[in-house]
Amino acid sequence: MANSKYEYVKSFEVDDEIMLPNTIIVRVHARDFCRFSEMHEFEKPNDKKALELMNECANAVLEQFPDVIFSYGFSDEYSFIFKKETKFYQRRGSKILSLIVSFFSSTYVTKWRAILPQKDLKCAPSFRARVICCASMEVLQACLLWRQNECHTNNQYNTCLWQLIKSGKSKEEAQATLRGSLKQDKNELLYQCFNINYKKDIPEMFRQGTCTLKTEVEDIVKYKDDGSPVKRTRRKVLRVHSENIASKRFWKEKSCLSKEELDQFCEDLNKTRPEYVKSFQYESRLMLSTWIVVRIDGCHFHRFSEIHEFEKPNDAQALNLMNACAVAVLEEFRDVIFAYGVSDEYSFVLKKDSQLYQRCASEIVSSIVSFFSSTYTMRWNEFFPQKEMKRLPYFDGRAVCYPSNEIIKDYLAWRQVDCHINNHYNTCFWLLVKSGKSKSEAQNDLKGTQTPEKNEILDRLTGILNYYDTLPPMFCLGSSIFWDKETKMVDNEEGATGKSRRVVVVGHCNIIETGFWEAHPEILDEKVDRFKSVQMANVKSTPNGPAIHSAIFRLSGAESEGSATPIDLTGDGPHERPVGAKKAKGRRKGKGASSDAQSESQFIQQATLSANVASLTQLYTLYFTGGGTPEEKQSLWSTIQNMKIPMGLPPDAPPS
Ligand code: GTP
Ligand code: MG
Repeated sequence: MANSKYEYVKSFEVDDEIMLPNTIIVRVHARDFCRFSEMHEFEKPNDKKALELMNECANAVLEQFPDVIFSYGFSDEYSFIFKKETKFYQRRGSKILSLIVSFFSSTYVTKWRAILPQKDLKCAPSFRARVICCASMEVLQACLLWRQNECHTNNQYNTCLWQLIKSGKSKEEAQATLRGSLKQDKNELLYQCFNINYKKDIPEMFRQGTCTLKTEVEDIVKYKDDGSPVKRTRRKVLRVHSENIASKRFWKEKSCLSKEELDQFCEDLNKTRPEYVKSFQYESRLMLSTWIVVRIDGCHFHRFSEIHEFEKPNDAQALNLMNACAVAVLEEFRDVIFAYGVSDEYSFVLKKDSQLYQRCASEIVSSIVSFFSSTYTMRWNEFFPQKEMKRLPYFDGRAVCYPSNEIIKDYLAWRQVDCHINNHYNTCFWLLVKSGKSKSEAQNDLKGTQTPEKNEILDRLTGILNYYDTLPPMFCLGSSIFWDKETKMVDNEEGATGKSRRVVVVGHCNIIETGFWEAHPEILDEKVDRFKSVQMANVKSTPNGPAIHSAIFRLSGAESEGSATPIDLTGDGPHERPVGAKKAKGRRKGKGASSDAQSESQFIQQATLSANVASLTQLYTLYFTGGGTPEEKQSLWSTIQNMKIPMGLPPDAPPS
């Protein structure tokens, strides 16, 4: 396959493999937990049920991912430790952390009802995650000590703080009382003022955190004829609270670490070197002044869609659910200015000057992927009221920087070309299968077919002329989501006027052609064409301006509701795709070249023609209904006439 014109954008993706001998730790912690816990009235300083929920999520992670050998958590955080030699997703940092945080988030939502049945989950919980690399066992030991010390210090402080507040002090007064106090002073204060013996009266889970680990247990599966038992070893998730999870003694009794690994642990570690802590807190930042794209992709969605009996090749409800989650992302993360989605993937574009999490890649990726996953899980019933969710959805994510407007548009074009090519192939494939062919027969039938042959197959099987063009635009063009002005007619004393507000809209537009970006220059903060904006302003001020404006808005391809977009994909579109190939992925997967250069250019030609027709209609509307000076009108007229020449349309008689 020839490389697509747009596939060069893949070269902006950078490798983030975590090299051996580093042990990988993924540390997950709640995002904006203060607000979340207040909203759900969690007890302070510790809510037993909320902690249990966190522990249950950790259990689920350990059960789901065999390479995670143990974890440690307290308050709103959990650290997951991978076995040293793990090959999980080729040790790619963003992939690993996003999968863990995504699965954790979906689990949090699903287990909420069982653990907190009396409370409604009022908003989507989300977690941030980062990878901590431990170059040696000594560093791993130091990291465990660091987290457990933090657990102890925070818990002791918060126990005092909330006791003081409950006794009548304001938060500020309580903080002032505790300022500069040592560990011993706090224990004294608790004992003297509140009759609390910190060690005895405060539950272990609050003071020491929770270690969740896998151990091997022997089960008796049956008995032989002679009565002797047949045993099988099984890995079981175990939960323990221990005073010192960094001690060699603690790990000696567990089977998580090998003898050689444990030999490298110090006998008694009680201080963490500051340079180690600095390395645990290190985060790489994304380059300044570049568009950041966070692309997320459903993990094993092939299986997920089969289990939930999604319609093939496109399930409108499943896609609508993806879109609803993406809308929620735009509303939650104001730096996300555009999103494009197809199948089980979504690309979120963050503005160039975004300072979200100081541009720390893992924080940005994890927050978005986590929020998306918990929203997907929370809103499942709304979109599938008749279907029980049988498996947890989870997504991987990555962040890539694109330095210019041209390149970010090419990136989005790459995804849209891929959407179209996959959709054309899959539509043919599943119609052939539904007609009675086996999957391999269908593959053979499609081998080497070009667009006209595929269209012929579609028309023959359905008995509908140009069947492909009758498909919903959401299937052929994917979904684009962005902020736009919505104009509503409201009645007041002077009559009807248009009132506008900013809303997130979902459109199924051609984003390859320049027309879309010209109609929405504000998305990528591009210079507005002054002439066009003057014309647009004039249209809006005519008596039926808002109606015309919204018609133009529609013609330019963006709609707030998912209805048809005037993009014509008839004729020689792109429609070749390697047999058996899945959709294009990032470059690490090496299965990217799914779009054929020739098909792609045909698609662009076709899309350009349809977009030109739309633009022409728009310009005529502007000419006949808009204002403007005679010079501007003259210039607009020439533009219209010049546009018609390459389209093979005859010129108009000069207007009277
Ligand atoms: P990984 O992403 O590598 O974990 O694999 P995956 O199984 O998620 O496959 P991939 O992301 O390459 O492709 C997405 C898959 O999701 C498609 O191949 C389909 O099997 C499935 N899928 C996505 N959307 C739909 C849909 O609307 N209907 C059906 N039936 N399946 C869908
Ligand atoms: Mg996938």
